[in-house]
Amino acid sequence: PQNVGILAMEIYFPPTCIQQDILENFDGASKGKYTIGLGQDCMAFCSEVEDVISMGLTAVTSLLEKYKIDPKQIGRMEVGSETVIDKSKSIKTFLMKIFEECGNTDIEGVDSTNACYGGTAALFNCVNWVESSSWDGRYGLVVSTDSAVYAEGPARPTGGAGAVAMLIGPDAPIAFESKFRASHMSHAYDFYKPDLASEYPVVDGKLSQTCYLMALDSCYTGYCQKYEKLQGKQFSMADADYFVFHSPYNKLVQKSFARLVFDDVARNASSVDESAKEKLGPFTSLKGDESYQSRDLEKASQQVAKPDYDKKVQPGTLVPKQLGNMYTASLYAAFASLIHNKTSSLDGKRVMMFSYGSGLTATMFSLHLTEGKAPFSLSNIAKVMNIEHKLKSRTEFEPEKFVELMHVMEHRYGGKDYETSKDTSHLAPGTYYLTHVDSKYRRYYAKK
Ligand code: ACO
Repeated sequence: PQNVGILAMEIYFPPTCIQQDILENFDGASKGKYTIGLGQDCMAFCSEVEDVISMGLTAVTSLLEKYKIDPKQIGRMEVGSETVIDKSKSIKTFLMKIFEECGNTDIEGVDSTNACYGGTAALFNCVNWVESSSWDGRYGLVVSTDSAVYAEGPARPTGGAGAVAMLIGPDAPIAFESKFRASHMSHAYDFYKPDLASEYPVVDGKLSQTCYLMALDSCYTGYCQKYEKLQGKQFSMADADYFVFHSPYNKLVQKSFARLVFDDVARNASSVDESAKEKLGPFTSLKGDESYQSRDLEKASQQVAKPDYDKKVQPGTLVPKQLGNMYTASLYAAFASLIHNKTSSLDGKRVMMFSYGSGLTATMFSLHLTEGKAPFSLSNIAKVMNIEHKLKSRTEFEPEKFVELMHVMEHRYGGKDYETSKDTSHLAPGTYYLTHVDSKYRRYYAKK
């Protein structure tokens, strides 16, 4: 099979959200800290009737319906998530209900978990399967679904929630450049979830930022080396049209792109212009750790990077800025934003993707886009996802109500024997929701 990649996409996110400027004020943070400091506009969260399973069910059902895919045509389904609902039973098995009803139980794949990286692992598994000798000619399906919630404190505004479903197969409008791919994986305690009684992570915010940037450097170096070895010519940022990043919050995305600009200067890439060399050259003598801590370098590189950021990164920031961190779904929601914003002009473009999961695991890979033929065309994908409409139809919560909900969810987490409010007034028709959890922890869902 040729040009294996993403044929179709659907995104789902809860219609419940809170504006970051309101949260900022409520938390007593200084004005602009969440909106400018973190670069976030709004944050999505699950109300008590939604969770990662219901979001996954909604995204998958909607994808199958809107692209008219017979559920029997799915041969592999992989789920990426770091939201633990059960320590043994995979989220994938919950989603099987959709397929069982159509008589299809012959579907490989389970869940992949490592912080925000699980979606990428799931995606690679599906792409690799289609490219392998065990492929049976059917589609792969990837589901990234997460609810990111943090304890009260500085990390709380970096929460978010959402699910992305992606159909995988050959002759895709979003094709993998599988040969160019570089990973960086190591052992770190930057963000982890050792307390199984709590949904909240233990997080060393500053360390997680440095780990993210170090992994980015390492992956970019590796990507360039592989590209150069195979293509026999230098790779630099000028060779890619768009850059999409895992987006815990937008400020980190701004810093990441600036870091890559600096990396090109440090590598002496031939595409770097004189003015960038002049402004960033002096920083190339900084030793590893110093260069991650240097505020002057950060400022100078962000300034040099600004025009290209607006062109190559900004189109892929809409959904993450509006929803917050969706953990495994975050990178793919960012990519969905790019398709939404640039649909008709993406034919022939190369998109660089950077996936990061704390702990830590990271990969940089690239995609080659072509318009494709309906239903698997970029314009149809943009139409199906209907992001503008979904963003507009949300309900904003007051901070008091949001905090109250967080307390209810803390209490419910890991619990049994309860009914939810079954209040679906905010949900669009077709949305799945949690109705109750019985005395044996079994979860029940219904569709609006
Ligand atoms: N106006 C404008 N900017 C402001 C203001 C203000 N009033 N106040 C603060 N800021 C800026 C700060 O200067 C800083 O920006 P900078 O980094 O460019 O200097 C930014 O706002 C954040 O403020 P800090 O005080 O540095 O950080 P804080 O203690 O609030 O924590 C953090 C931020 C670390 C991101 C926290 O929210 C967190 O731990 N989040 C979860 C971890 C995370 O997302 N890590 C990313 C990778 S791992 C992952 O994906 C989970």
